[in-house]
Amino acid sequence: MSLVRSIAKVALATGVLLASQALAQTSPATEADHRRMLDKLGIQALRPGVDGWNKAAQNAVNYDESKAGPFSLLPDPLVLPDGGPVTDARMWWAVRRPQLLELFAREVHGRAPAKTPAVTWRVVSEARARRGGVAVIERRLVGVVDNAKAPSISVRLDMLLVVPDGAAKVPVMLELGFPDGPPWARGQPPPPGPDWRDLVIAKGWAYAILDPTSIQADNGEGLTQGIIGLVNRGKPRSLDDWGVLRAWAWGVSRAVDYFETDPTTDAQRVAVEGVSRYGKAALLAMAYEPRLAVGFIASSGEGGAKLFRRRRGEQLENLAASGEYHWMGGRFLRYAGPLTADDLPVDAHELIALVAPRPLFISVGNDQADAWIDSRGMFMATVAAGPVYRLLGARDLGATTFPAPETLIASGDLAFRQHAGGHTAGPNWPDFLDFAARYLEPAKA
Ligand code: GCU
Repeated sequence: MSLVRSIAKVALATGVLLASQALAQTSPATEADHRRMLDKLGIQALRPGVDGWNKAAQNAVNYDESKAGPFSLLPDPLVLPDGGPVTDARMWWAVRRPQLLELFAREVHGRAPAKTPAVTWRVVSEARARRGGVAVIERRLVGVVDNAKAPSISVRLDMLLVVPDGAAKVPVMLELGFPDGPPWARGQPPPPGPDWRDLVIAKGWAYAILDPTSIQADNGEGLTQGIIGLVNRGKPRSLDDWGVLRAWAWGVSRAVDYFETDPTTDAQRVAVEGVSRYGKAALLAMAYEPRLAVGFIASSGEGGAKLFRRRRGEQLENLAASGEYHWMGGRFLRYAGPLTADDLPVDAHELIALVAPRPLFISVGNDQADAWIDSRGMFMATVAAGPVYRLLGARDLGATTFPAPETLIASGDLAFRQHAGGHTAGPNWPDFLDFAARYLEPAKA
């Protein structure tokens, strides 16, 4: 307990979301649900994840690059199961991309239901305010999910939308995060550097902050509630059902639905952003929601833009443990025993490839403070998605060597930057906004 408290103190002091790194605090109900999934799979026990705190532990996390591989060859996004090549864009869209979507749904993220209940958005409150000297209108919105099929389960998406006063059809930067600010930042001085919200408003754009936990709780015991529980009418998940990351991404799509109806926002110019677990969800949202124009994926790590096959930083086994398994579909747990990451039919580069040809900015912090997320593993995945971008007539990352810190690589439609800070998107916002402007402000391109 005292370890937990001192970690919380460090998190407050640094103003960043600290990776929990193997400190899973799960309830008996979560443990029971995790066990239930393993029983369905006929699995006795999983291999343990790596320990990010205790260097002396037998399963201590590896940060030594020379031990990060060798790993088996990455699956080729442009080779069909029968060994034939994907030769043109038409084949990608008609054959290969659907195959990859099916593999991710079946083996990694779980399946989003074919039909989900309707969401009705309404404005809860509206206020005038100023942000960085600019007059803005702040709207708090609730997306009420139709629960006629399970009236005891109430799901209400919570989103803040802030638009410059007088805005008409402006781009929206949609963050998965905390509409009222991160809880660990309350009463703390703001982190150094510009506030991303001021930067967005100064461009004449809008920003929105959607609370993922209003879509689906961030734990296993909540799986019989939230949108996942509602669709299942309160029953526990089956092996095929969607995990929480997929549900959070579904919520992003519902936010885009709202932007389509609001004359102040342009639903064709929405960028999605998230950090860490919300970075993973932002990447899924980009992969599954074609209406999203640009993605800013920060410190997403394992289950996000990091290659599962890398033996550095967090490992697949951590995701499969009771503290994080709820993010994933049930069948994913098999890869933490009896199978391994090398047996996965897909890897993170193919999740990035599902975004192609749309622009994507992969953001990481410095290699010490943000080591758990394996920056290099994410860089390698971004490089390996390049052939799909090229096939679709877009530009790849344009680099294959891991760049020095604070070097922006953004000559193509994939971008990468390692900022000097920790587990945050913060210092990369100015570069991301420049990158996004290339696509969202065509007049300035
Ligand atoms: C944990 C987890 C990561 C996750 C992070 C976060 O550290 O292991 O996968 O990204 O929490 O969301 O802060």
